[in-house]
Amino acid sequence: MLQESILKGKIALVTGAGQGIGREIALTLAQSGCKVGINDSNRQSATNVAQEIIAAGGSSIVLVHDVSVASEVQIMYQAIVQEFGQIDIVVNNAGIILKNAFCEITEEQWDRIIAVNLKSVFLSCQTAASYMREQRSGKIVNISSVAGKKGGGFLGNTAYGTSKAGVIALTKGVARELGPFGVNVNAITPGFIETDMVKSMTNELRATILGGMALKRPGKPRDIANAVLYLVSPLADFISGEIMDVDGGLMMD
Ligand SMILES: NC(=O)c1ccc[n+]([C@@H]2O[C@H](COP(=O)([O-])OP(=O)(O)OC[C@H]3O[C@@H](n4cnc5c(N)ncnc54)[C@H](O)[C@@H]3O)[C@@H](O)[C@H]2O)c1
Repeated sequence: MLQESILKGKIALVTGAGQGIGREIALTLAQSGCKVGINDSNRQSATNVAQEIIAAGGSSIVLVHDVSVASEVQIMYQAIVQEFGQIDIVVNNAGIILKNAFCEITEEQWDRIIAVNLKSVFLSCQTAASYMREQRSGKIVNISSVAGKKGGGFLGNTAYGTSKAGVIALTKGVARELGPFGVNVNAITPGFIETDMVKSMTNELRATILGGMALKRPGKPRDIANAVLYLVSPLADFISGEIMDVDGGLMMD
C-alpha cells in the first residue's frame, strides 16, 4: 500500500462519487491525504460520502451537479476551487448504462448516454485544463470500460460501448495536448466490478464472464480505486495517454 501521506494536501474532484466505484475512489483519495470534492447528481448519496470523509478527519465538499451540462460543470469547478484554492486531481467516473439491443435504441437514449458518459468527460477535462494549464501540473483519470474496446459489454450495449470508446480516444488526445503543460491524462477500463450497475446480471451471465477472466473473480470497487491512486500519485509521473485494463485478466490486449 502506498504511504498515507503520498497525496497530502492535494485537491481532488471525483464525479459520480455518491456510490459504487466513484465512492471508493473518493474514500481512497481522502485516506491518502486529499481534500475531495464529491460530485453526484444524487444529493443524498454525495452528502453521505462527504460526511464519511469528514467523520474520519478529512476535508470534503458536496457538489450536486449533472456533469453532462456545461454550465453545471463550470459551477462545480468554481465551487471546489473557491473552497480549496486549486484543483490537482480529477477523476471522471460518473456514468450510466443502457442495455437495449442496438435496433431498439431511441435517439433520446443515444443522446443521453453519449452526454453522460462522453460529453461530461469532454466538459470536465476542458474545464480542468483551464486551471491545470496555468498551474502547469495536474492528474486526470477517466473511467472508461472494457466495453469501449469490445464495442459493447456483457451488460452495456453498442451505445454504452461507443460512449466508452470515445472516452479512450478523448483521453489520448487530451494527454497529447496537456502533456506540455505538465498534466498527465490516463484512462482505466474496468471489467466486471461488483456495484449496483451490474446487480441485474443473471447467474448464467456471471459464470460466463468469470470463465473468461484469468483471476476468476469479480472486481471490487477498491480494485479500481487502487489503480486510480497509483495513476494520480508521483509514482506515475511518467505515464500519460495510457489506457489501463483493470479487469482481472479479461481483455489481455
Ligand atoms: N461496475 C462495472 O462493472 C463497470 C465496468 C466498467 C466500467 N464502469 C464504469 O465505472 C463508472 C462507475 O460505475 P459504477 O458501477 O460505480 O456505477 P453506479 O451506477 O454504481 O454509480 C454511478 C454514479 O454516477 C452518478 N451519476 C450518473 N449520472 C450522473 C450525472 N449526469 N452527473 C453526476 N453524477 C451522475 C450516479 O448517481 C451514481 O452515483 C461508470 O462510468 C461505469 O460506466 C463500471
